Order: sequence, then C-alpha cells, then structure tokens
Amino acid sequence: MAADVASQASDIMALTGAGSVPLHVAIIMDGNGRWAKARGQMRTMGHKAGVGALRRTIRAAGDLGVTHMTVFAFSTENWRRPAAEVSDLMGLLRTFIESDLAKLAKEGVCVRIIGQQDGLPKDIVECVRKAHDDTRHNSRFFLQVALNYGAQADVVEAAKRFAAKVQAGEANIEDLTPEMFGGLLSTHDLPPLDLMIRTSGEHRLSNFLLWEAAYAEFVFQDVLWPDYDRVHLEDALKIFAERDRRFGAVEAGHVSA
Ligand code: FPP
Repeated sequence: MAADVASQASDIMALTGAGSVPLHVAIIMDGNGRWAKARGQMRTMGHKAGVGALRRTIRAAGDLGVTHMTVFAFSTENWRRPAAEVSDLMGLLRTFIESDLAKLAKEGVCVRIIGQQDGLPKDIVECVRKAHDDTRHNSRFFLQVALNYGAQADVVEAAKRFAAKVQAGEANIEDLTPEMFGGLLSTHDLPPLDLMIRTSGEHRLSNFLLWEAAYAEFVFQDVLWPDYDRVHLEDALKIFAERDRRFGAVEAGHVSA
C-alpha cells in the first residue's frame, strides 16, 4: 500500500503503543440501508456505497498494521431479505471480485470467503474459487469475506466433523478440547480475534464469529458503514489500545488474598 502512509502508521503506533495494534479485526458493516434511506435512495445504493467503504478500510487496515480482517457480507439469515436485494448483494460481491481481485492479488492480499457454499448461485461459487486460487500464496494481508455465513451453523458443522471422527474411530470424546474444536471451524487457520467492530450504533453480534469472539474487544461506532473511513478505523484502534485485556486472569502485579 502507499509508502506515504508509513508516517500515518507510525503516528498510530505512537498513539497506541507498539504491540497494541490488533492483528485480527472483524467488522459487521451495518447501516447501508439507513444510509440509502436518508438520501431517498434504494437500499442497494447503500450496499454499493458500502463496497467503497470496504475498499477504503482494507487499505487503511493494511497501512495501520492489521494483518487479518474478517467482514460480514451476507449471513445465513440474510436470505430473508427481498429477493431483489439478495440478488443485488450477490451481484456486488461478483463485481467486487471481478474488479478488485487482480489489484488485491498484486498487493499481496490473500482473499478467502468463509461460509456455506451450498445454496450460493453457481457464478458466485466460481468467483469464490477464483478469489482463493488467485491469491492463496499471498501473505501480506488476509481478507476473509463471510458470505452465507452463520456462526451457529459453523459450530454445528464442526460438531458434525468431530462426531464423524469419533464414529470412524479417529478421535475420542474425552480428548476433545476447545483448541481442538476451534481447529474444526472455518476460521481454524486465523489468529485469535482481537477486535470486533460494529457500525451504525447497533450492539449485537448477529450470529457472527460467536466462538472466535470469546476474548475479543468490542467497539461499537455510531457511523453508518458507507461513511466509514480511515479515521473511524484509527479511532477504533485507539480505543482498542486503551483496553485492559486480561483474558480471564488478573492484572499484572495483583496480589491475591
Ligand atoms: C448491513 O446493512 C449490511 C449488509 C447486510 C451487507 C453488507 C454488504 C456490504 C457492505 C457490501 C457488499 C460487499 C461485498 C464485498 C459483498 P443493512 O442493510 O442491514 O443496513 P440497515 O440496518 O441500515 O438496514
């Protein structure tokens, strides 16, 4: 990404302290519909503007030292939306991959889609495959797009995989650990989730990364996703850096009774 942003990155490091930058950030990109409604436009226009915000945020995240970003593009529950909106969202994903993939691949971004491929239109499955194939050797920045994703379904799939191993005599129920179970999820090869951001003022997880968010910090921002910009991400990173993450332990130096 642009060399002239190096100084901005060092500004953030100075503000937040080295080592306080979250490696893995997840984003619930909420508020596209309200953004469009406020302008008297169709909801799709909000999603379209949301793709622009996604582009800006990928760039900013890479510049600021984030290495992994997982965004919620379409949930297993989003099929309940009007058919035209569902089709527009799929179309936007296809356009995003077709127009941005070469550039992302060149910039060292590894693009993966997580979620159930069953039920997705054929052309979208083909886009997903191409995105994986064209970027799988990249390791500068990892972008996960959650598409037809639901955390509960992901956990259920992992449980089925483990049950199948037990049935096949390859695993014992007593040996199952959280680490082993996490290894069966679609996010198994990602670093722990550090920061979960949701825009638009809503305070919900909406079935996104339920298992992975166990020790994530949550930052809720009162900005509609299409308006999201570098400055909002910087704000979220500053808030993250001020948090005291204890992972269930006590503060360093605490003397127990
Ligand atoms: C939530 O806003 C947003 C979504 C369900 C879709 C998110 C999708 C994008 C940002 C663009 C697509 C990007 C790709 C790469 C596919 P909402 O519609 O629920 O907004 P509202 O709560 O204001 O109605």
